[in-house]
Amino acid sequence: RALSILTELEEKCGTPSSKLKQVADAMTVEMHAGLASEGGSKLKMIISYVDNLPTGDEKGLFYALDLGGTNFRVLRVHLGGKESRVVKQEFEEVSIPPHLMTGSSDELFDYIASALAKFVATESDSQHVSPGRQRELGFTFSFPVRQTSISSGTLIKWTKGFSVEDTVGQDVVGELTKAIERAGLDMRVAALVNDTVGTLAGGRYNNPDVAAAVILGTGTNAAYVERAHAIPKWHGLLPKSGEMVINMEWGNFRSSHLPLTEYDQALDAGSLNPGEQIFEKMISGMYLGEIVRRVLCKMAEEAAIFGDTVPPKLKIPFILRTPHASAMHHDTSPDLKVVATKLKDILEISNTSLKLRKLIVEVCDIVATRGARLSAAGIVGILKKLGRDTVKDGEKQKSVVALDGGLYEHYTKFRTCMENTLWELLGEEASENIAVEHSMDGSGIGAALLAASHSQYIEVEE
Ligand code: BG6
Ligand code: GLC
Repeated sequence: RALSILTELEEKCGTPSSKLKQVADAMTVEMHAGLASEGGSKLKMIISYVDNLPTGDEKGLFYALDLGGTNFRVLRVHLGGKESRVVKQEFEEVSIPPHLMTGSSDELFDYIASALAKFVATESDSQHVSPGRQRELGFTFSFPVRQTSISSGTLIKWTKGFSVEDTVGQDVVGELTKAIERAGLDMRVAALVNDTVGTLAGGRYNNPDVAAAVILGTGTNAAYVERAHAIPKWHGLLPKSGEMVINMEWGNFRSSHLPLTEYDQALDAGSLNPGEQIFEKMISGMYLGEIVRRVLCKMAEEAAIFGDTVPPKLKIPFILRTPHASAMHHDTSPDLKVVATKLKDILEISNTSLKLRKLIVEVCDIVATRGARLSAAGIVGILKKLGRDTVKDGEKQKSVVALDGGLYEHYTKFRTCMENTLWELLGEEASENIAVEHSMDGSGIGAALLAASHSQYIEVEE
């Protein structure tokens, strides 16, 4: 019986190339629809107001706040201009207490602002901005925001386990600015960016061929550089650069071609945001472990794989985190010792047979493989939209996709599978023109760079 549940899972999660190509095509179609009109697609295709990516000339001391990944970070970045580039970057990482993720807006923003105030309070004179100059900040806020300018935007909805109702519909820069004032700090938010946009900016700073950025972490999303005249819903002035960065919010992508299972449906129904972020729920770090847990639960209930009763811990949603699933999936010991330890430590299940441990590794493999292959299909969708998915004769244009996030960074099998799938879909020869690159913590630096290029002092300096 357990084997038949496994076989069914494998079938339902199947992602042959033909299916992935349909997913990629559907992604391209939705991108067009989302660019055509507001509300035209599940893909919001948010206009970021970033129409100039870093050049390398950015200079000065800037701060960045990064909220929305596993940890919340405060950064101080010394930008050295053309010659010395980023001179120095210092940061502090703080985890957000879980009760603040579902509490009130003021509490959440006060917590952030006070971490910022503490960070500033410990700096020495040499770390200070020039006298008479206000500190400036790039705010990476990794949730869907309807931007109204480079430094303002209203929260559309929360994702990834946050649910602070009174922030929805508010200008998040306004919320942060008020909290900064309450904390007694004098600081101006110069840029509000999504983590994908920050990663794109940070990636571009290091490599001029970076055309898109993808986050594979707690959540998943992508941003890319679009031609401004290919955005029908943009009614503003055409930017000088002719370009505009688009935050796709691809986590909310949905298509009949997605291989959804009963486990995904149940996970979605029981989530904080039912019906939303379906692509994200099949791919990202917040959910992979939970899908595995749900499959094991079914096997425990219907095939008694852990004995006559379902182990009580196994019934607890989100108890099995993706890093645990990853550790089990990467277990190379002959007797699958890591699997045994994880089962014992996290789920309080002991005395498992080797056969059963192998079955569990299989489940992890099926779930991670599906997520990795779907994310590759998403990237192909973007390359198609840009007309860069096929190598044209004599084409010199390189396209680099900057990647970041814990899933990409730490889940080796996921990352390898995602990269292999890209070449499977694009053809090996595509690797001459297309590359993926890890842009480590690029989004913090990216936000600081964008704060620099939108500094209130910029005219004075020129
Ligand atoms: C970090 C970026 O490296 O990755 C963040 O700087 C981003 O901006 C994060 O949100 C995503 O990863 P995770 O795994 O922490 O969600
Ligand atoms: C979620 C957020 C999105 C973010 C992504 C990665 O999908 O909605 O804004 O970019 O997670 O952190």
